[in-house]
Amino acid sequence: MYHAQRNDRVALPVGLPPGPKIPALLQTLLIGFWPRRFQDYCARHYGDCFTTWIPRLPPFVHFSNPEAIRTVFEADGEKVHAANRPLNLVLGENSLLILHGDRHARDRHLLGAVLHGDRMRRYCEVMIAEADRAIDGWPLGRPFQIHPEMQQITLNVIMRAVFGDDAGPEMDELRERLRELLAVAAGTVWMVPWLRTIGGRFSLLARIRRARRSVDEVLTELLVRRRQNGARGHDDVLSVLIEAAHENGCDLSDQELRDEMVTLLVAGHETTATALAWTITRVHEYANVVAAAKKELDEVLAGGEPEQSKLESLRYLDATIRETLRLNPVVPDVGRLVSRPIRIGGYELPAGVIVVPSIDLTHRNPQVWPEPEKFRPERFLESRPGPYEFFPFGGGIRRCIGMSFALFETKVVLARVLSRCDLRLAPGYRPRMKRRGITIAPSRGAPAVMDRCRAV
Ligand code: HEM
Repeated sequence: MYHAQRNDRVALPVGLPPGPKIPALLQTLLIGFWPRRFQDYCARHYGDCFTTWIPRLPPFVHFSNPEAIRTVFEADGEKVHAANRPLNLVLGENSLLILHGDRHARDRHLLGAVLHGDRMRRYCEVMIAEADRAIDGWPLGRPFQIHPEMQQITLNVIMRAVFGDDAGPEMDELRERLRELLAVAAGTVWMVPWLRTIGGRFSLLARIRRARRSVDEVLTELLVRRRQNGARGHDDVLSVLIEAAHENGCDLSDQELRDEMVTLLVAGHETTATALAWTITRVHEYANVVAAAKKELDEVLAGGEPEQSKLESLRYLDATIRETLRLNPVVPDVGRLVSRPIRIGGYELPAGVIVVPSIDLTHRNPQVWPEPEKFRPERFLESRPGPYEFFPFGGGIRRCIGMSFALFETKVVLARVLSRCDLRLAPGYRPRMKRRGITIAPSRGAPAVMDRCRAV
């Protein structure tokens, strides 16, 4: 393999950037269980570019310098391609996250048309109603977990967006089966192909396949019904997608539709729920941030609902969400497989290497961010970071397609929670980063206590 020495004075270093010299298996465990500590260690010792190893996988070359990040994202689709292969197990071969080239462009165009911000903002009322429903069930004066509550809200919202008013036992069944799929996939090791096959019938691989099949069964029934009754006239994502594909002359097969539905349902709720759990947790660590956010809400909403026309004015709230996504990005990094040799950050990288724009490290790079570890939402009011300095939704031709929907939903639900509830973190709770599949969530489900709740 490649020789890994870097000579900082020479413009043309040979081989891969250096990295930790511990066994690859140990690196795998550290990446799985202590992702931030391990990456911080590597960044301290090797700078803003280093290589890590997982047994039997290509080398991972991590970058946390905006210029290098720009090079990766600008080469997207040309010299580098998505490296999301392991996700096919959960999302399917036809998921936007897995597709490349023309099919990726086609599905991205179709999904982009149905998911764009203006369309999704119509779900504001649904978001408020779901937030209220959850808040009304929270206990007073004793700890409960914020993260599962947020998962419930965001799952209900995305299901409503995708399937419209379709209700009934199939929806409840689908909700339950999706939860099971996510519970199995939330493990730490399933991204490493050879680890997930251990255990035969009881292996992670077998369990994920069973859970995915059971989701597909319900989705198939829903699709058959929707196709029989005709999609025309319906306004939900599924119907609009079927119609748009038909009009573009590229009717999607049932399997393609099922995979894209699962992608939207999974990617569209777990990430947003985690962003909300982090934001509520981080905000409540600082009394001054809670006070500033509530003051803004009082001034802008005057006790009313966070309706769409007023959300633009909630600038401090927006800054707290961005500051949380900076310090606690839900997805800590994105990967791209090098398909043609490329020069990044002074290194000539061969095909076969996986380059990793590190969201978590770039967001805390002291060359980019003054006092990087400090939670200070005001920094987002004072200046606007560039797309290679702040990229919680990734970048290039694969930047998250649900970004504006996610930011909108996070703002609506957070506004509702802060307007109605006086919360505090559960006694003794100090949030730690816990890996759940490809996301990093607050530990222990983010326990909090509600001291007061205003009725609607
Ligand atoms: C706070 C919430 C969210 C975060 C932090 C997030 C983050 C990300 C990231 C980091 C990527 C990979 C981008 C890259 O490779 O450069 C991604 C891709 C994607 N996300 Fe999100 N996401 C969120 C919410 C959503 C929502 C609400 C949806 C759908 C309704 C969604 C659907 C997708 C899809 C389909 C892709 C694949 C895009 C492609 O490969 O072309 N995400 N997201």
